[in-house]
Amino acid sequence: MVKKNASIFISGKGTNLKNILNKSIDYTFPIRVKLIVCSSRYAKGLVFAKQRSIPIFIIQNNLISQMKLINEINKRNISIICLAGFMKILSKSFIRALNLRILNIHPSLLPKYKGLNTYERIKKNKEKKTGCTVHFVNEKLDSGKIILRKYFYISPNDDFKVLKYNTQKLEYLAYPEAIYKLFRYN
Ligand code: GAR
Repeated sequence: MVKKNASIFISGKGTNLKNILNKSIDYTFPIRVKLIVCSSRYAKGLVFAKQRSIPIFIIQNNLISQMKLINEINKRNISIICLAGFMKILSKSFIRALNLRILNIHPSLLPKYKGLNTYERIKKNKEKKTGCTVHFVNEKLDSGKIILRKYFYISPNDDFKVLKYNTQKLEYLAYPEAIYKLFRYN
Protein backbone atom coordinates (compact mmCIF):
# COMPACT_ATOMS: atom_id res chain seq x y z
CA MET A 1 0.00 0.00 0.00
CA VAL A 2 1.11 3.58 -0.60
CA LYS A 3 1.30 5.41 2.69
CA LYS A 4 0.23 9.05 2.96
CA ASN A 5 2.51 11.60 4.56
CA ALA A 6 1.29 12.94 7.89
CA SER A 7 2.20 15.66 10.34
CA ILE A 8 1.50 15.25 14.07
CA PHE A 9 1.01 18.35 16.25
CA ILE A 10 1.80 18.09 19.98
CA SER A 11 2.29 20.31 23.01
CA GLY A 12 3.23 18.05 25.91
CA LYS A 13 4.07 14.47 26.75
CA GLY A 14 3.37 13.08 23.31
CA THR A 15 2.15 9.64 24.36
CA ASN A 16 -0.38 9.63 21.50
CA LEU A 17 2.43 10.63 19.14
CA LYS A 18 4.56 7.75 20.44
CA ASN A 19 1.66 5.36 19.93
CA ILE A 20 1.05 6.52 16.34
CA LEU A 21 4.77 6.30 15.56
CA ASN A 22 4.82 2.73 16.85
CA LYS A 23 1.77 1.82 14.77
CA SER A 24 3.24 3.39 11.66
CA ILE A 25 5.98 0.76 11.58
CA ASP A 26 3.29 -1.67 10.42
CA TYR A 27 3.19 -1.72 6.64
CA THR A 28 -0.64 -1.79 6.67
CA PHE A 29 -0.86 1.44 8.69
CA PRO A 30 -1.97 4.11 6.18
CA ILE A 31 0.30 6.99 7.23
CA ARG A 32 3.97 7.74 7.82
CA VAL A 33 4.94 10.70 9.99
CA LYS A 34 7.08 13.22 8.13
CA LEU A 35 6.89 16.26 10.38
CA ILE A 36 6.29 16.92 14.07
CA VAL A 37 4.90 20.33 14.97
CA CYS A 38 5.10 21.49 18.56
CA SER A 39 4.02 24.60 20.45
CA SER A 40 7.00 24.44 22.83
CA ARG A 41 10.64 23.58 22.33
CA TYR A 42 10.64 22.09 25.85
CA ALA A 43 7.80 19.60 25.30
CA LYS A 44 8.69 16.13 26.59
CA GLY A 45 7.13 14.48 23.56
CA LEU A 46 9.79 15.87 21.23
CA VAL A 47 12.04 13.04 22.38
CA PHE A 48 9.99 10.64 20.22
CA ALA A 49 10.63 12.76 17.12
CA LYS A 50 14.34 12.95 17.93
CA GLN A 51 14.60 9.19 18.46
CA ARG A 52 13.35 8.65 14.93
CA SER A 53 15.05 11.67 13.35
CA ILE A 54 11.74 13.14 12.25
CA PRO A 55 11.96 16.89 11.51
CA ILE A 56 10.52 19.17 14.18
CA PHE A 57 8.90 22.55 13.64
CA ILE A 58 8.32 24.77 16.70
CA ILE A 59 5.30 26.93 15.98
CA GLN A 60 5.22 30.42 17.38
CA ASN A 61 2.25 32.65 17.86
CA ASN A 62 2.65 34.86 14.81
CA LEU A 63 1.81 35.00 11.14
CA ILE A 64 5.37 34.55 9.88
CA SER A 65 5.76 31.31 11.82
CA GLN A 66 2.39 30.15 10.50
CA MET A 67 3.43 30.90 6.92
CA LYS A 68 6.74 29.06 7.40
CA LEU A 69 4.84 26.05 8.71
CA ILE A 70 2.47 26.05 5.72
CA ASN A 71 5.55 25.99 3.52
CA GLU A 72 7.09 23.05 5.49
CA ILE A 73 3.85 21.10 5.22
CA ASN A 74 3.48 21.69 1.49
CA LYS A 75 7.15 20.89 0.87
CA ARG A 76 6.67 17.44 2.42
CA ASN A 77 3.52 16.63 0.54
CA ILE A 78 1.61 16.15 3.79
CA SER A 79 -1.94 15.00 3.23
CA ILE A 80 -3.20 14.69 6.79
CA ILE A 81 -2.59 16.48 10.09
CA CYS A 82 -3.23 14.78 13.42
CA LEU A 83 -3.51 16.96 16.50
CA ALA A 84 -2.42 14.86 19.49
CA GLY A 85 -2.56 16.92 22.65
CA PHE A 86 -1.89 20.14 20.72
CA MET A 87 -3.12 22.80 23.12
CA LYS A 88 -3.33 25.78 20.75
CA ILE A 89 -6.26 26.72 18.57
CA LEU A 90 -5.50 26.66 14.85
CA SER A 91 -6.40 29.92 13.17
CA LYS A 92 -9.10 30.03 10.51
CA SER A 93 -6.59 31.33 8.00
CA PHE A 94 -4.25 28.39 8.68
CA ILE A 95 -7.05 25.82 8.27
CA ARG A 96 -8.23 27.50 5.06
CA ALA A 97 -4.75 27.90 3.58
CA LEU A 98 -3.91 24.22 4.00
CA ASN A 99 -7.20 22.70 2.94
CA LEU A 100 -6.14 19.29 4.36
CA ARG A 101 -7.86 16.77 6.54
CA ILE A 102 -7.10 17.74 10.13
CA LEU A 103 -7.96 15.33 12.95
CA ASN A 104 -8.02 15.84 16.70
CA ILE A 105 -8.36 13.59 19.72
CA HIS A 106 -10.30 14.90 22.69
CA PRO A 107 -10.57 13.31 26.16
CA SER A 108 -14.39 13.25 26.43
CA LEU A 109 -17.39 11.94 24.59
CA LEU A 110 -18.00 14.95 22.36
CA PRO A 111 -20.16 16.98 22.04
CA LYS A 112 -19.99 16.83 25.84
CA TYR A 113 -17.13 18.66 27.58
CA LYS A 114 -15.53 20.63 24.79
CA GLY A 115 -12.51 22.69 25.81
CA LEU A 116 -10.16 22.37 28.78
CA ASN A 117 -10.30 20.71 32.21
CA THR A 118 -12.47 17.90 30.93
CA TYR A 119 -11.70 15.36 33.69
CA GLU A 120 -12.48 17.85 36.47
CA ARG A 121 -15.83 18.73 34.89
CA ILE A 122 -16.73 15.08 34.23
CA LYS A 123 -15.98 14.20 37.86
CA LYS A 124 -17.82 17.23 39.20
CA ASN A 125 -20.94 16.33 37.21
CA LYS A 126 -20.80 12.73 38.46
CA GLU A 127 -20.95 11.31 34.95
CA LYS A 128 -21.43 7.56 34.77
CA LYS A 129 -19.59 7.15 31.51
CA THR A 130 -16.80 8.91 29.63
CA GLY A 131 -14.19 8.24 26.97
CA CYS A 132 -12.52 9.87 24.01
CA THR A 133 -13.44 11.19 20.58
CA VAL A 134 -11.51 11.45 17.32
CA HIS A 135 -13.01 14.15 15.11
CA PHE A 136 -12.27 16.42 12.19
CA VAL A 137 -11.10 19.90 13.06
CA ASN A 138 -13.12 22.81 11.78
CA GLU A 139 -13.10 26.46 12.66
CA LYS A 140 -15.02 25.95 15.92
CA LEU A 141 -13.54 24.42 19.08
CA ASP A 142 -13.97 20.61 19.31
CA SER A 143 -16.94 20.77 16.96
CA GLY A 144 -16.00 19.05 13.68
CA LYS A 145 -17.57 15.83 12.40
CA ILE A 146 -16.98 12.87 14.72
CA ILE A 147 -15.01 9.94 13.28
CA LEU A 148 -15.25 7.65 16.28
CA ARG A 149 -15.73 7.55 20.02
CA LYS A 150 -14.78 4.97 22.65
CA TYR A 151 -16.17 4.88 26.17
CA PHE A 152 -15.86 3.23 29.58
CA TYR A 153 -17.95 3.31 32.76
CA ILE A 154 -16.79 5.43 35.68
CA SER A 155 -16.93 4.00 39.17
CA PRO A 156 -17.65 6.47 41.99
CA ASN A 157 -14.16 6.03 43.48
CA ASP A 158 -12.34 6.88 40.28
CA ASP A 159 -10.28 9.98 40.84
CA PHE A 160 -8.80 12.35 38.27
CA LYS A 161 -5.77 10.08 37.75
CA VAL A 162 -7.87 6.99 37.07
CA LEU A 163 -10.11 8.91 34.65
CA LYS A 164 -7.08 10.14 32.75
CA TYR A 165 -5.42 6.72 32.72
CA ASN A 166 -8.55 4.96 31.45
CA THR A 167 -9.26 7.67 28.87
CA GLN A 168 -5.74 7.62 27.48
CA LYS A 169 -5.73 3.82 27.29
CA LEU A 170 -8.73 4.17 24.97
CA GLU A 171 -7.08 6.98 23.03
CA TYR A 172 -4.23 4.66 22.06
CA LEU A 173 -6.81 2.39 20.41
CA ALA A 174 -9.05 5.12 19.04
CA TYR A 175 -6.57 7.29 17.14
CA PRO A 176 -5.01 4.50 15.04
CA GLU A 177 -8.46 3.01 14.44
CA ALA A 178 -9.78 6.37 13.21
CA ILE A 179 -6.80 6.70 10.84
CA TYR A 180 -7.39 3.21 9.46
CA LYS A 181 -11.09 4.03 9.04
CA LEU A 182 -10.33 7.21 7.14
CA PHE A 183 -8.09 5.55 4.58
CA ARG A 184 -10.08 2.35 4.18
CA TYR A 185 -11.41 3.33 0.79
CA ASN A 186 -8.83 5.81 -0.45
C1 GAR B 1 -4.62 13.57 25.36
O1 GAR B 1 -5.27 12.89 26.38
C2 GAR B 1 -5.61 14.33 24.50
O2 GAR B 1 -6.87 13.78 24.47
C3 GAR B 1 -5.64 15.67 25.17
O3 GAR B 1 -4.32 15.91 25.58
C4 GAR B 1 -3.72 14.67 25.92
C5 GAR B 1 -2.33 14.65 25.34
O4 GAR B 1 -1.60 13.59 25.82
N1 GAR B 1 -6.10 16.67 24.25
C6 GAR B 1 -6.86 17.70 24.60
O5 GAR B 1 -7.22 17.90 25.74
C7 GAR B 1 -7.24 18.61 23.45
N2 GAR B 1 -8.28 19.48 23.83
P1 GAR B 1 -0.25 13.15 25.13
O6 GAR B 1 0.58 14.42 24.92
O7 GAR B 1 0.40 12.22 26.13
O8 GAR B 1 -0.61 12.47 23.84
